[in-house]
Amino acid sequence: MDLKRVALVTGGAGALGRGIAARLQKDGCRIVLADINATACEAAAKELEGDAFGVEMDVTSASSVEAAIARVLERCGRIDILVNNAGVLVKEDHAAMDEATFDRIVRINLKGPFLVARAVIPTMKAQRSGRLVAITSRNKLAGSMPAYAASKAGLDALTVSWARELGEWNITANAVAPSSIAVTPGLDILNRTPEQQLVSNRLSISRTPIQRLATREDIAGAVAYFASEEAGFVTGETLYVAGGSQLAPVARYASDPQ
Ligand SMILES: NC(=O)c1ccc[n+]([C@@H]2O[C@H](COP(=O)([O-])OP(=O)(O)OC[C@H]3O[C@@H](n4cnc5c(N)ncnc54)[C@H](O)[C@@H]3O)[C@@H](O)[C@H]2O)c1
Repeated sequence: MDLKRVALVTGGAGALGRGIAARLQKDGCRIVLADINATACEAAAKELEGDAFGVEMDVTSASSVEAAIARVLERCGRIDILVNNAGVLVKEDHAAMDEATFDRIVRINLKGPFLVARAVIPTMKAQRSGRLVAITSRNKLAGSMPAYAASKAGLDALTVSWARELGEWNITANAVAPSSIAVTPGLDILNRTPEQQLVSNRLSISRTPIQRLATREDIAGAVAYFASEEAGFVTGETLYVAGGSQLAPVARYASDPQ
């Protein structure tokens, strides 16, 4: 049986997932990275060194999720922290969006966390302790990417339900809602040129009281707090780590009408 707290980070091969994992490892956790991209996930786990390891998991598939969780339990014997971080950001065609794009975003960003939590909760109940942390987005306030915003709002709502339902097992559920994070592949998915990215970043910064973009460390710090022992009486919260930009939510793209 593992004596360290075991932290499972989905989307663990991605920019933010790796940052969160590094922070939780520094805090003494054993890290498991889960990602649909098995090769990148293994490589990310090697970068972390120590006893971190990667598992292949497609968060949209119940059988893939259950098989991955079984492998984690076989190796670690417990799961103390689940960070539901896997998510996609796709350039959306607003109201004219095709159904397949809408479904894909909601399947990965909303149904995925539900499937992973559903697979992990019985273990946390048996342990009579657990921490669920979801990565949502400040964008749910700003809109401009309708399916993305709706998926993240849904995940905040799921978090509240988990908090209500699971408190008696000493399981907390909270969400961290970032604004744009500096230089992550997540932003590249929008297919912007470096020049467009610069314009977009400048615009975001000008609308952020703390005049900069978020860093991975900003977000990882908030996750580490919710995951910590000292946050045991904090549940059902969404914490904006957004430099104050959540106070005056605005459209995300430079080209959007103001
Ligand atoms: N980057 C930002 O500015 C930003 C801002 C707010 C919120 N977020 C949220 O942070 C999270 C991480 O974003 P990121 O910037 O690190 O993106 P990223 O693209 O670098 O990482 C996302 C990871 O999720 C994985 N993934 C995709 N589909 C999957 C699936 N079906 N099953 C398992 N894994 C899957 C990808 O392989 C990738 O490794 C996302 O939920 C995103 O919505 C990002």
